Amino acid sequence: MTLLAWNDQLANQHPQMDQTHQEFVLLLDALDIAQREGAPDVLARYDALVAHTVEHFAQEDRWMAATGFTPENCHSNQHRQVLDLLGEVRRRVVEEGQTELVPRLLPELAQWFEQHAQSMDAALVFHMSQVGYDAASGRIERPIQPEAAIAGCGSSSCS
Ligand SMILES: [Fe+2]
Ligand SMILES: [Fe+2]
Repeated sequence: MTLLAWNDQLANQHPQMDQTHQEFVLLLDALDIAQREGAPDVLARYDALVAHTVEHFAQEDRWMAATGFTPENCHSNQHRQVLDLLGEVRRRVVEEGQTELVPRLLPELAQWFEQHAQSMDAALVFHMSQVGYDAASGRIERPIQPEAAIAGCGSSSCS
């Protein structure tokens, strides 16, 4: 069974983001299959997912920085927390042999991603369209003023 399959609910109608998210889903699923089969390359697949996630989050953080979010905005903070967790799980697996943490982590990571893509990431896409941001050129048609910098994420999951 697939842990998380790509579906229309996950698409945010932003080709670059959706492409990255599809890659994330594929890497997550490949890791899940490897760990369920007890394959020898579980750690390598884990590292591949983490490396991809570092760039995935950095890409969104760059878009936020370019369109008027503060560095400490809650969306970027959530990215940092997830990367910290992924790093801590890897450390415990490698240093303490807690291999059971990987099968415990993956369903939660899948659930988190589904929710995150549909809330914070969707809100980011909406914001980028509101300000007329073109990621390829870096052009912004309607930049927001520095005093209006955004600390929240614009989604309902932002408290
Ligand atoms: Fe994302
Ligand atoms: Fe995100």
